[in-house]
Amino acid sequence: VIDIRGLYGKAGVFTHDPGFTSTSSCESTITFIDGEKGQLLHRGYPIDQLAAKSHYLEVCYLLLYGELPTAAQMEDFEYRVTHHSMLHDQMQYFFRGFRRDAHPMAIIVGVMGAMSAFYHDSTDITDPWQREVASIRMIAKMPTIVAWAFKYSMGMPFIYPRNDLDYAGNFLRMCFAVPAEEYEVDPILARAMDRIFTLHADHEQNASTSTVRLASSSGANPFACIAAGAACLWGPAHGGANEACLMMLREIGTVDRIPEFIARAKDKDDPFRLMGFGHRVYKNVDPRAKVLKASADEVLDLMGIHNNPTLQVAKELEKQALEDPYFAEKKLFPNVDFYSGIILEAMGFPTSMFTPIFALSRTVGWISQWKEQLSDPEHKIGRPRQLYTGAPYRDYVEVEERG
Ligand code: ACO
Repeated sequence: VIDIRGLYGKAGVFTHDPGFTSTSSCESTITFIDGEKGQLLHRGYPIDQLAAKSHYLEVCYLLLYGELPTAAQMEDFEYRVTHHSMLHDQMQYFFRGFRRDAHPMAIIVGVMGAMSAFYHDSTDITDPWQREVASIRMIAKMPTIVAWAFKYSMGMPFIYPRNDLDYAGNFLRMCFAVPAEEYEVDPILARAMDRIFTLHADHEQNASTSTVRLASSSGANPFACIAAGAACLWGPAHGGANEACLMMLREIGTVDRIPEFIARAKDKDDPFRLMGFGHRVYKNVDPRAKVLKASADEVLDLMGIHNNPTLQVAKELEKQALEDPYFAEKKLFPNVDFYSGIILEAMGFPTSMFTPIFALSRTVGWISQWKEQLSDPEHKIGRPRQLYTGAPYRDYVEVEERG
């Protein structure tokens, strides 16, 4: 808290909180995190139970509407999502406008933003019906956008969504099927994909969600707000961390090199950090990391990948770091990114697809938070203050009189 008398010529105090480590920006009923206990609840339900017993679209319903659906409500929701998965045909020209080597996130941010130019009937945020249609459209179309960004980056033809497949299976097929060849969705793989979506669905006021809320506070249209969230997620300290973590595990290469990297992570003169370790809120094991650790074994077995050196390094690194007093003292534990990259790679995704898959999963969280904000009668435009440390008032100096 800073006394601003003398700074702005008026009495009063304001908080200066870079990184918003202790500033609440909103009230929310969607997600609760107890960082000390390592607990994550969506509408009160723990993430480990949701990951084990529920599925992604049910969790989407829960996040959006506040309660688990009845069978009839679920059927209706699934029908609506499934029947909005096709992209407007003209959007494929938008994809084709990108350079082939564009990062899929660049395409996703652009295409999501461009949806406001294709779906004019769901951009009026004052109309609850339009808000609902925009929400369903974005959840439904995001797998198609992400899969097409992937196909485009590889120079392969787009695969259209199929209404008879479930959400995760449909996504896998759009990513890995090739025209004129049979593609059978493996149910274990689809389940593992669905679990990754579920674990990433929402995480309260993280950087990308706060970006969505800030963009929305000006009254921007829903597609623009979600594109803003995706752009923020792209950063390596946020959605890009699992890619960085996999790179690090590969660089370590063999378990005998782990002590060297742990020593580097502890060395304050070395900028190196253990990627996939530490979290702003969790001061205990990230509950999502526990689920993913088990899922990694399952997926690698299914893909016939045995004794995978990266997974071996990851498990041994986790063990050694957890036994190290430095990590215990600073409460640094594996986070969601520690094992997710290994699973996605085993499924056949290149690292450039890791953040896009995170964006796909998080779309429902962004939308739920956006809807909640709009329905709050007290919400106002977000406008953080600053602590000005620049030059005091001074008169303009003519160019001849300078230096
Ligand atoms: N390896 C080594 N030391 C670490 C690590 C790490 N991964 N993370 C934090 N520390 C140390 C810091 O050096 C600092 O030490 P100090 O007190 O002696 O200066 C202390 O722990 C606190 O770290 P901060 O950076 O202040 O903590 P903050 O809450 O700001 O950062 C973050 C959290 C960004 C996640 C950090 O732990 C990190 O960089 N981790 C690696 C990247 C990563 O995995 N990001 C994914 C986050 S999850 C997500 O976005 C989905």
